[in-house]
Amino acid sequence: MEIEAFITNLPKVELHIHIEGTLTPELRWQLGHKNGIALPFDSFEELEASYRPDPDDERIGADGLARFLKQYFGGLEVLRTASDFYELGMRYFRSAAAMNVRHAEVFFDPQAHTERGVPIAEVMQGLQDAQGQAKQELGMTCDYILCFLRSMSAESAEEIYDLCQPYRHTMFCGVGLDGAEAGRPPLLFRSIFERAARDGLKVTSHCDFAQPNTHEHIKQCASTICGTGLDRIDHGLSAADSRELIEMIKNNDIGMTLCPNAYNRRWSDHEVYPLIRRLFDADIKITINSDDPTYMNDKWIVHNMQMVRDRCPFSDVEMIQLAKNAIDICWASPARKKQLMDELFRYQDRMISGKTPACKVVEISGLVPLPSLT
Ligand code: HPA
Ligand code: ZN
Repeated sequence: MEIEAFITNLPKVELHIHIEGTLTPELRWQLGHKNGIALPFDSFEELEASYRPDPDDERIGADGLARFLKQYFGGLEVLRTASDFYELGMRYFRSAAAMNVRHAEVFFDPQAHTERGVPIAEVMQGLQDAQGQAKQELGMTCDYILCFLRSMSAESAEEIYDLCQPYRHTMFCGVGLDGAEAGRPPLLFRSIFERAARDGLKVTSHCDFAQPNTHEHIKQCASTICGTGLDRIDHGLSAADSRELIEMIKNNDIGMTLCPNAYNRRWSDHEVYPLIRRLFDADIKITINSDDPTYMNDKWIVHNMQMVRDRCPFSDVEMIQLAKNAIDICWASPARKKQLMDELFRYQDRMISGKTPACKVVEISGLVPLPSLT
């Protein structure tokens, strides 16, 4: 996939990436050996092949989330020590910096590690060291979002939140909710979300695309929890089918972190891009992100941006608006946000004065009409 220089050079903010979803086959193999963990693969080539999509799995629809999560949780076993988490973090931050990501807010799943017997201090120390090193070595800022696993109980979420308290002021800026969604509405976690909000943390939740009861889940995040909803919704693309949800998200000024490639692996272009376009046209602050790049055909933020660029399609000005949205809804300090916005304005000015290579807008033919609003 060819990425335009305009997209590579655009100063970017990444708001939806799971650090565990950046584990490459190479690092998994290496850490497996280092930690003496027998991987369920006979060779590196076999492990690498497991990351590549099976052609029969294309367009696997709603079942895709469960299949993906099996792979994702399978990969975690090699992560044991602070240095493993550091290595995982730094590899991501170096790739991100190479794509001109200037600020990232990165999910991590502490329960998935403590459940395996990894002490929380190993997880936090490694990730925190990577955060500091990224700033020093790469000049990019990053923060973490502590995700609760929705397959686990609300009590377990409270326990992990308590365990992470010593790191609250230095290492994470918000809490989130991820994992298997069916039958696990966000409302089950209302109490911990509201507690975190009272503690001054930001709050977000996954509402994966086309999951059972997705409209109800989105509604809980957009209005019920925390009074007027959470600060952001991760995915939530199915809101585009509902006039009521579009209004609610817009009126409550909730940002949305979309990951087009994650949907496009499971649904076709015409099921995905018109919905993204509709949210954008409704003036909802959507952003474009990468989710779990190594498990999703190695598509990173630049690929996701190119996909919406070509397939929505979005003009230069609209692409810049997406980048502005991400700065607007990110949780960095006001001073850092201003720096990011100034950098983006400088880029915009250079582009307007013609110093950045001209940008094409590719027309996609054959998009079917939008599904009607309910
Ligand atoms: N959805 C739900 N849980 C996840 C995801 C996702 O996209 N990535 C990692 N955990
Ligand atoms: Zn995600």
